[in-house]
Amino acid sequence: MKKICFLLICSAFGINAYGQKTIDQKVSELLSKMTLEEKVGQLVQYSGFEYATGPQNSNSATVLEEIKSGKVGSMLNVAGVEETRSFQKLALQSRLKIPLLFGQDVIHGYRTTFPVNLGQAASWDLGLIEKSERIAATEASAYGIHWTFAPMVDIARDPRWGRVMEGSGEDTYLGTQIGLARIKGFQGKGLGNIDAIMACAKHFAAYGAAVGGRDYNSVDMSLRQLNETYLPPFKAAAEAGVATFMNSFNDINGVPATANTYILRDLLKGKWNYKGFVVSDWGSIGEMTYHGYTKDKTEAAQKAILAGSDMDMESRVYMAELPKLVKEGKVDPKFIDEAARRILTKKFEMGLFDDPYRFSDDKRQKDQTNNQENRKFGREFGSKSMVLLKNQKNILPISKSTKTVALIGPFGKETVANHGFWAVGFKDDSQRIVSQFDGIRNQLDQNSALLYAKGCNVDDQDRSMFAEAVETAKKADVVIMTLGEGHAMSGEAKSRSNIHFSGVQEDLLKEIAKTGKPIVLMINAGRPLVFDWAADNIPTIMYTWWLGTEAGNSIADVLFGKVNPGGKLPMTFPRTEGQIPVYYNHYNTGRPAKTNTERNYVSAYIDLDNDPKFPFGYGLSYTQFKYSDMILSSADLKGNQTLNIKVNISNTGNYDGEEVVQLYIRDLFGKVVRPVKELKGFQKIFLKKGETKIVSFNLTPENLKFYDDALNYDWEGGEFDIMVGTNSQDVQTKRISWIK
Ligand code: NOJ
Repeated sequence: MKKICFLLICSAFGINAYGQKTIDQKVSELLSKMTLEEKVGQLVQYSGFEYATGPQNSNSATVLEEIKSGKVGSMLNVAGVEETRSFQKLALQSRLKIPLLFGQDVIHGYRTTFPVNLGQAASWDLGLIEKSERIAATEASAYGIHWTFAPMVDIARDPRWGRVMEGSGEDTYLGTQIGLARIKGFQGKGLGNIDAIMACAKHFAAYGAAVGGRDYNSVDMSLRQLNETYLPPFKAAAEAGVATFMNSFNDINGVPATANTYILRDLLKGKWNYKGFVVSDWGSIGEMTYHGYTKDKTEAAQKAILAGSDMDMESRVYMAELPKLVKEGKVDPKFIDEAARRILTKKFEMGLFDDPYRFSDDKRQKDQTNNQENRKFGREFGSKSMVLLKNQKNILPISKSTKTVALIGPFGKETVANHGFWAVGFKDDSQRIVSQFDGIRNQLDQNSALLYAKGCNVDDQDRSMFAEAVETAKKADVVIMTLGEGHAMSGEAKSRSNIHFSGVQEDLLKEIAKTGKPIVLMINAGRPLVFDWAADNIPTIMYTWWLGTEAGNSIADVLFGKVNPGGKLPMTFPRTEGQIPVYYNHYNTGRPAKTNTERNYVSAYIDLDNDPKFPFGYGLSYTQFKYSDMILSSADLKGNQTLNIKVNISNTGNYDGEEVVQLYIRDLFGKVVRPVKELKGFQKIFLKKGETKIVSFNLTPENLKFYDDALNYDWEGGEFDIMVGTNSQDVQTKRISWIK
């Protein structure tokens, strides 16, 4: 008791138990010395000059001067020991010597890149995902970076949207778990550790619901939908202590997210009691004028700060407008103090006031350059992110002693493309990234031949290389075709209305198929693509996404069976673009089709089957898994009881392998309609050939809660279907009753 009183008294005086000042106290002292301009300076973030991730308008000379005079709080796209040191030196010339924060898009790895995020999500492996961010943070922090603009936790149901590659797909539960794993990975043992970087939950909010899948487009949805589907990953991130949030570009129901008081003040900083800071997206404060929400930049600055956007990334309106607005009485200075306090707190927590150069250390940078351990991990992660969509006649795995293998397609010898979008480029990329050709060559027996033909370019109409590719295929025992979309065709501002293979790749595939040779199709993409012809006609298909630095080795490990693929789709794959948005957890409607092909007066298309090409959660293995009947602890539950669900999974095939066991529920009736299925749990298990394991899940009323139309979050008693299976379509079901 005495100890508690002592601690309470200490904290009331702003000191800790050892008589040192708390961060809060230090920030207050610093704020009391700062002029209004200096405080606003902390809210300003500019991009460096060598590398831009948005429409840059830097005047480098002015920026450098502004840093020296304390008018800049943070820089993005400034990295590397030398560069960060030189910028920090400038900041330390300012009157109060407040260090800069260096932010960067460390999205799927840094020096070692890992699969694009949607591919990582396909691993359904939270441990691997967390570890990849741990490595990314270790590498990035060794290059002087303090802060990553990740994870992107936007739920996305529209594969036309290019940014699906950066997220975890369509499901709120899966997306939340993955977001949490990433934050844990980035922030490690906590801010202040030399290998921990600040994470950033983005884009707040509903960016993934852009109308028509067109990037930066508007979002119009009920608050119920917003709270139930799009906000949970953000709420969980806030609760987990993510250091920062980033605004989204879109408006939500007519109010740009950047000045959206409901999400920023009422929810994030109010109900969720979030203590980190909010950075705008690139230019999103200034863009409110284009939205038609503010008449000019002055009003944009005013609305953004009042709503709770703390830092201005590259809009250049905070410094230009806020001091004036405060002096004119249009912005209460308490809003500036609050934003500056949040930002300064993070600088203290990162230890930058103790040593502003602590992240700029040559030795650490050297150790984290081409780090072999990290690469080894990248290779494993790559192979575990691939999804086997078809393996008729068990063409895979291929024997290493196959006499002649042909690799055909525009991605076979690519190196840099394997990064996918959102990778920071380095000069040595083309030498250190493993191409698919090299990966396969390294594992194929010495006496076996690996032939190669490009066949066509990624995205044009040139068919002149077809003939050579056909001749090459004819000489082979197995043809590996590597097709898809260009690596820069998904990512920011990369929405596509046509999500087929780009250019003439499908025609090339048809020509090669005519040779009658066994074909393994590997699809390189950052999003679900539409490839109906291939899906119906090619016996073996592997979705490889973009796998990063070790791509070629990861692919070869799976092709030759060193790794048995176990990935599952984190997004539904549509049959055609016309089916979009298509997602597994839709409502039933008043006229659901009973079969996939039923058309008459039911909710269906007259020219298309109802189900998708590949469902959410789908993915095969080289082995087979058998599910026993599930056993429920009870079929009649009451109140706060726990339902236990058990199922035996046996590996009945010929390889050791991993399976992702998925648990779904359906709440049959509700105050508001409920989805036909909702993922409520999953477990990734490893089973040796012949082995059986029991998988056990628990559900409590907490898992049954939902938002009603008045935004009450609660559960209702009634009947529920409990479903367990290998993907969202292939499940066994038992009905229970659960009363309140
Ligand atoms: C714009 C993107 O939307 C955001 O995700 C990114 O972090 C910033 N640019 C900075 O590059």
